[in-house]
Amino acid sequence: MGKHKHIDWEERYATGVEIVDQQHRGLIDIINDLYGRIGEGRGDEALREIFGALQRYAETHFDTEERLLKRRPVAGCHPAEHLDEHETYRRRIMDLRTRYAEGERLVPIQVFSFVENWWLAHIEGSDRVFERLTEGRPGGDAGAAEGTDL
Ligand SMILES: [Fe+2]
Repeated sequence: MGKHKHIDWEERYATGVEIVDQQHRGLIDIINDLYGRIGEGRGDEALREIFGALQRYAETHFDTEERLLKRRPVAGCHPAEHLDEHETYRRRIMDLRTRYAEGERLVPIQVFSFVENWWLAHIEGSDRVFERLTEGRPGGDAGAAEGTDL
């Protein structure tokens, strides 16, 4: 492979909601792939594909999270703020994608830094709320969080 990984999955990223964690792992794979390609001097080529991948993957993921947040309120959690963060990300990626499409020469490692920082801060910040969705449900996972009883 010759690719160096940048982010290793760590237990502290886990929320306990399996579908959310699986998708977070997928996002980290995309971020690591971008990093690997930059390291191989193929950053410009990677940028051509990364925005589409990031947007598609993020949309699926945000849908999942937003569905879960609406289904079961958690005390002290404000879904509106969480949704605002998703919206900010959508706008930032759209803006970068548009600028790139219009011919601006983006620096691949700067795009990488934004994406990496945003996702890790979000996973370790707002997404902690998903831990609380499984509280009181031993072995709580996607099935429990998505169960019809919520
Ligand atoms: Fe989120």
